[in-house]
Amino acid sequence: MTRRASLLLISISLCLLVAVPAGQAQKKHAPGQQATGKATGIDDIALRNADLRKGEWITHGRNYSETRFSPLKQVSEVTVKDLGLAWSFDTETDRGLEATPLVVDGVMYTTGSWSIVYALDARTGKQIWKWDPQVPRRFGTKACCDVVNRGVAVYKGHVYVGTIDGRLAALDAATGKLVWSVVTVDQTKPYTITAAPRVVKGKVLIGNGGAEYGVRGYLSAYDAATGKLSWRFYTVPGDPSKPFESPEMAKAAKTWKGEWWKMGGGGTVWDSLAYDPELDLLYVGTGNGSPWNQQVRSPGGGDNLYLSSILALRPATGRLVWHYQVTPGDQWDFTATQHIILADLEIKGQKRKVLMQAPKNGFFYILDRRTGELLSAEPYVTVTWAKEIDKKTGRPVENPGVRYPAEPTQIQPGPLGGHNWQPMSFNPQTGLVYIPAQENFFVFLHDKRLDYRPGRWNTGVDFSIFTDPPTALPTGHLLAWDPVAQKERWRVQYPVMWNGGTLTTAGNLVFQGTADGRFVGYSADKGAKLWEVTIGTGVIATPMTYEIDGVQYVSIMAGWGGSFPLTGGSIGLPATPGRLLTFALNSKQSLPAVAAMEMPAVTPIEFTATKETIAKGAGLFAQNCGVCHGLAALGGGGVLPDLKLSAPSVFNKYREIIVDGARVDIGMPGFKPWLKPEDADAIRVYILSLRNELAKKK
Ligand code: HEC
Repeated sequence: MTRRASLLLISISLCLLVAVPAGQAQKKHAPGQQATGKATGIDDIALRNADLRKGEWITHGRNYSETRFSPLKQVSEVTVKDLGLAWSFDTETDRGLEATPLVVDGVMYTTGSWSIVYALDARTGKQIWKWDPQVPRRFGTKACCDVVNRGVAVYKGHVYVGTIDGRLAALDAATGKLVWSVVTVDQTKPYTITAAPRVVKGKVLIGNGGAEYGVRGYLSAYDAATGKLSWRFYTVPGDPSKPFESPEMAKAAKTWKGEWWKMGGGGTVWDSLAYDPELDLLYVGTGNGSPWNQQVRSPGGGDNLYLSSILALRPATGRLVWHYQVTPGDQWDFTATQHIILADLEIKGQKRKVLMQAPKNGFFYILDRRTGELLSAEPYVTVTWAKEIDKKTGRPVENPGVRYPAEPTQIQPGPLGGHNWQPMSFNPQTGLVYIPAQENFFVFLHDKRLDYRPGRWNTGVDFSIFTDPPTALPTGHLLAWDPVAQKERWRVQYPVMWNGGTLTTAGNLVFQGTADGRFVGYSADKGAKLWEVTIGTGVIATPMTYEIDGVQYVSIMAGWGGSFPLTGGSIGLPATPGRLLTFALNSKQSLPAVAAMEMPAVTPIEFTATKETIAKGAGLFAQNCGVCHGLAALGGGGVLPDLKLSAPSVFNKYREIIVDGARVDIGMPGFKPWLKPEDADAIRVYILSLRNELAKKK
C-alpha cells in the first residue's frame, strides 16, 4: 500500500468567511414557540409535537420517531443548486465531530470533541457561550472510537450533555452555566459517553459505551430538574451470587454461561433511543458482547440476553415490556445500537405501527413496535454470517463455521457493520429510508492466548494476524431502501466507507457528507446528484436544517474522526480543526480551494534488527496499537499522529511512552505489565522499517 502516508499529509487551510445572509422576512413561530433564546418552551408537549416546529430542530433525531425528515422546502430539488456557504464556526479541535446540532429559539446548540458544548446564534454562527467540561485527557485512553460526542438535549431552559468521562450535565440554555452534574458511571471502569441524551416525560435518558474494554451496559434516567437518578436498566446480568437488580436480569442470566460478569458482558446502550408517546414505549438499542468472542465470554453458548437487542421499556419505570434480539449469542461485534426509526407503514395491506433498524449485522428489520413481532428482515448489504432470518422464530439461520472455533474465518459484514452509528433518515413522501451503508468484512480468529487485561481493549479475537495493510479499501454507499418491499431503490457508490449520516427533506432532497470530504444533495426519489461542495475535511456527522426569518439553512459538522483500525489514514484527508458549516440559498461565501500539500521529507533512521524481531513487532503492534493508530500503522483516521513520521527523538523514548505510560496524560496508554521493554523495542524497529520504506519511496 503506497497510498498510506502520502495521503495522510494533505494540508489545507479553510479560512471560511462569516457572513449574515440577507433576508429580513417576518418572524414566523410555530404554535407555542417563543423567541426567548432560553429554550424554556421546550417541554413534553413541544417534544411530542416536534414536527409542528417546522423551522426548528429540537431533539436529536428531529422528533421522537427519529425520522430526520424536515418539512422545510425552500431548499428544494429545484433551488438546491443555489445553496452556498452562509457562515462557518471553528470548533478549534482536531478530533472527530459527530454531533447533530439542535436549533431552538434562534440558537444553535452543538458539541465538539471532548464533549465541549457550544451555543451559537443560528443566523450568524456567532458564539453565545461555550461550556468545556474539562475532561481529563487521560480519559481518551478509554475511548474505543475517538473522543467524540453526538450532541445535546434541550428541555425547559436546560441543555443536557453526556461527557466522555461519564458525567451528565445540565446547563442553563441562556448562559451555559452549570445547573447540575452527576457522575453516571463508575469512573474507575472504562466507561465513556458519546451519545446525545433524550428527554422523555421529565427524565433525561443516558447510556454509555466501553464494551471492548469490559463494562456492563445500562441505561439511566435522571430527573431533568434535579439530576436525581430515577431508574437504571441493566442490559446484561451481573454476578449471579448477588441479588439481581430486576426480574429481567434473573431471566437474562439463564441465557449466559461461565463467569461473564468478570468481563463486563457488554450490551452497552451507546447510541440509539426512540419514543412513541401514544404507546408510551421507549425503544433502546443495545450493543455487542464483551468480549466479542462468545467462547471467552459465555463458554458453551446461550443467547446472552439482552446483547444486540431492541428493548421496549416503560419510560416511567424502566421496566421491560418486550425485547427482540437481532443477534443471539453475538460473536462478531454486531451491535443493535444503530439508529431506530418509528413510522406507520402499510404492510401486506395493513397499516402497522413499525420500528425500523439496519443494525450492524446486515439485515434490515421491521418490527411491530407494539409487540416486538418481526414483520420482515432482509439483507441490505452482503451478509455471509447468516442465510436468512427465520420469519417464524425471528431468529437468524447461521451459516456453518461462522463461530470461528479454530480457523481464521472471514465474515461479512465486519465489526464496523453494514451500517454503523451514522443515522439513517426516513422520508414519508418517498417512503424510502436513506442508509449510510458500507461493505466490509473481517477475519475472525479465536485468540488462544486468553490474555485478558482488565480495563483494556479485550475482544477474545486474535488481532495479531492483521500485520499487512488491507489490499483493498472497504467501500460505502448511500442506499435508498424501500422498507415495505424490503428492496433497494437506488444507490450512490462512494470510494471508501465511513461516510456521514443522512438528512431528508420535503424539498425531495437527501443530504450527506462523505468520508472523502464532500457535502452532497441528491433528489430523494431518484438519487440524482443535484448539488455538491468540496469541504476538504472528511465528514462523519449528520446534516440538519432549520429556518429563521424566512431563510432555510442546512448545517453540517465537518471533522474527521471516530478513529478505527480498518480505514485509518487511508481516506487521505488531514485532521484539520473541526468546523460547523451552514449553507443557505444565494449565500455566496466561497469555500477556499483545498490544496494538496507535498508530504514533508521523511528522513530514514538507521537501526539493526532481525527479520524475526520486526515480524514480532508487527504482530504486537496489530494486537495492541492498531485499534487507535490504524492497522499496519496507517494512522488513526488522520486523527492521531502517524507513528512513522514521529520526530526522531520520539524513537528514543519508545520504552517510556509505550511501557511506562509517559504520555498517559494526553491519552496514550501505558502497557505495563502486558508489554516488556523488549516488546517496545520490537515495535520500534517495526515502525522504523515502515518509516524507512516510506523514505526510500520519496
Ligand atoms: C487508546 C488509543 C491508543 C492506543 C491503544 C495506543 N495509542 Fe499511542 N497514542 C495515542 C494517543 C492519543 C497519542 C497522543 C497523540 C497526540 O500527540 O496528541 C499517542 C501517541 C503515541 C506515540 C507518540 C507519537 C509522537 O510522535 O509523539 C507513540 C510512539 C505511540 N503512541 C505508540 C503506540 C504504540 C506502540 C501502541 C501500542 C503498543 C500505542 N501507541 C497504542 C493513543 C493510543
